[in-house]
Amino acid sequence: MSAASRASDLRAEIERHNRAYYVLDQPTLPDAEYDRLFKELQALESEHPELLTMDSPTQRVGGAPLPAFGQVAHRVPMLSLNNAFAEEEAAAFDRRCREGLDVAEIEYAVEPKFDGLAVTLIYENGLFVQGATRGDGNTGEDVTQNLRTVKNIPLRLVGEEVPLRLEVRGEVLILRRDFERLNAQQRAVAAKEFVNPRNAAAGSLRQLDPRISAQRPLCFFAYAVAETTHQAPASHDALMSQLAAWGFPVARERDVVHGLTGLLGYYARIGAARGQLPYDIDGVVYKVNRLADQERLGFISRAPRFAIAHKFPAQEATTRLLAIEVQVGRTGALTPVARLEPVFVGGVTVTNATLHNQDEIDRKDVRIGDTVIVRRAGDVIPEIVAVVPDSRPPSSGRYDLLEAIGHACPVCRSKVERLDDEVVLRCTGGLYCPAQRKRALLHFASRRAMDIEGLGEKLVDQLVDQRLVDTPADLYRLDLAALANLGRMAEKSAANLLEAIRHSRSTTLARFVFALGIRNVGESTARDLARHFGSLDAILGADEEALLRVADVGPVVAKAIHGFFAEPHNMAIIAQLRDPQLGGVHWREGEALPMANSTIAGKTFVLTGTLPNLTRERAKELIASLGGKVAGSVSRKTDYVVAGAEAGSKLEKAQQLGLSVINETQLLDLLT
Ligand code: IVH
Repeated sequence: MSAASRASDLRAEIERHNRAYYVLDQPTLPDAEYDRLFKELQALESEHPELLTMDSPTQRVGGAPLPAFGQVAHRVPMLSLNNAFAEEEAAAFDRRCREGLDVAEIEYAVEPKFDGLAVTLIYENGLFVQGATRGDGNTGEDVTQNLRTVKNIPLRLVGEEVPLRLEVRGEVLILRRDFERLNAQQRAVAAKEFVNPRNAAAGSLRQLDPRISAQRPLCFFAYAVAETTHQAPASHDALMSQLAAWGFPVARERDVVHGLTGLLGYYARIGAARGQLPYDIDGVVYKVNRLADQERLGFISRAPRFAIAHKFPAQEATTRLLAIEVQVGRTGALTPVARLEPVFVGGVTVTNATLHNQDEIDRKDVRIGDTVIVRRAGDVIPEIVAVVPDSRPPSSGRYDLLEAIGHACPVCRSKVERLDDEVVLRCTGGLYCPAQRKRALLHFASRRAMDIEGLGEKLVDQLVDQRLVDTPADLYRLDLAALANLGRMAEKSAANLLEAIRHSRSTTLARFVFALGIRNVGESTARDLARHFGSLDAILGADEEALLRVADVGPVVAKAIHGFFAEPHNMAIIAQLRDPQLGGVHWREGEALPMANSTIAGKTFVLTGTLPNLTRERAKELIASLGGKVAGSVSRKTDYVVAGAEAGSKLEKAQQLGLSVINETQLLDLLT
């Protein structure tokens, strides 16, 4: 075979694997094999420079730095979209489109609104020849060299029928998991971290040295065609499928819906899945699907009439940091918390944000009085992402946590310590510290532990402050007379609380072990312990060596468990909790590894959607370890369908067949 045809074969093969890996997310080759092909092509090209082509995958590594970006005049202007924030605005958009087209209902193509940077890509005879940023919409910057390094941008279109000229619009961004990795790398070399994936993508795309861009995990998604010499299909949806067939990545979440109900349903669906998507989005985009209708509706000033962006509440906002308070957690960990000027972000008003620990404060150089960027995504605790450096008051100084608390626990004044291998400071007061007692009680009562409904923060504060409750065992001594002292607590809610406490007596061993709040023993370790030992006495009797035999229990956890039960104080509380005359907490004790008589042995499960905590693998493993089976599809023989977020057709089928549909918590309860 000639060198020329070998080079051409290699180019085609490597790009095929690139596409499988970066566009379709289905790797076809082991990395080592890919590297071998790549090196072979590099060697061939350096031996025969005349064989090097513009679409060679070796060109994705980035060429020589540029003195400045050239300018590109957009043949078709890069417009923006009008925004809708409220449902009424989406309804008004639908009404305008219906009136404009004089139809009763419209079919829409709907897509996520990527939170990245708009770019345009030009292909001639199937070859990527130029790429540019949006700029002012009429003229952008020529970032061709950098875009060439973006692994999922096709350098050559796939297929026989490629247009003479094609201009594709889309967004360059960084996937969340790549962003985390990128920032970890930045930390490792003590370089400045990026504030968010969008900023990282912007900074990476506008590098004059393409070799730097090449090292950044940029990624592209197509969402429009500006110009094509190809016969355009009838709908936007078909156009996107055409782009996908030519090798462009398009959003997996895109869909076609009908009418306003369809639009709002999509908004809700994507909104709920927002946190689980691989990339950041700031809304969804609605587009009239038929291209002929798009043309009829046309444009108004700088935006199309046929499309609109329906935005989600912003997840980041700017506000002022008023003070830093230090909270004491269940295990004594001291956490600095920022008190903020109230700001509306992520759909709620935020007044506090966690600052994690001193290292985080130092890394971000957060100071009292700073203007800060706050992020609240989904249900996660609001966080300070970065400081806006220009607005810092001149008088501010570094915040030193130890100094701020006078080197003692802010609640009980016990000594604080920092263990060698930890970044956090801890109060050494243990259960002497009211803050730790309160946290321990809240944990004990929490939904996944003893599930005592109504025992919230305010009530725990009162119970502890008035010395009505010191330990979890004291909860079971409460009666109406004691609660009557709590003033504002109406009789009805007092009775409800007592009922909830009474109800919690009947529990599972796993929940009880988790509720004890042993350091490093989360829900899943508690469950493993319960399953492995079968009874509390067996767990209490286990030495570190025996504990190490439990799946996932390492030396640190084994030591924590053993240490906890060696503490007479803890043993006394457990005894009180279990005493039928006192706490009366009980559960059904099983046998260790109760495989044969497990309630799920022989039962068939089907998993669908994303579970909040368990990966699919872990869920399968747990079910299998107790003798259950996991099947791929739903049928009448299915015993349980376990549904998580974004559950699809399997859930529908289960409902049609009237099968038991359970969530993760119910699954875990079955398994213990
Ligand atoms: S269509 C005529 N679709 O949003 C405008 N834009 O505010 C055609 N964007 O500059 C744009 N995701 O950067 C479209 N699925 C999507 C999008 C999207 C993100 C960005 C794009 C545009 C901006 C408009």
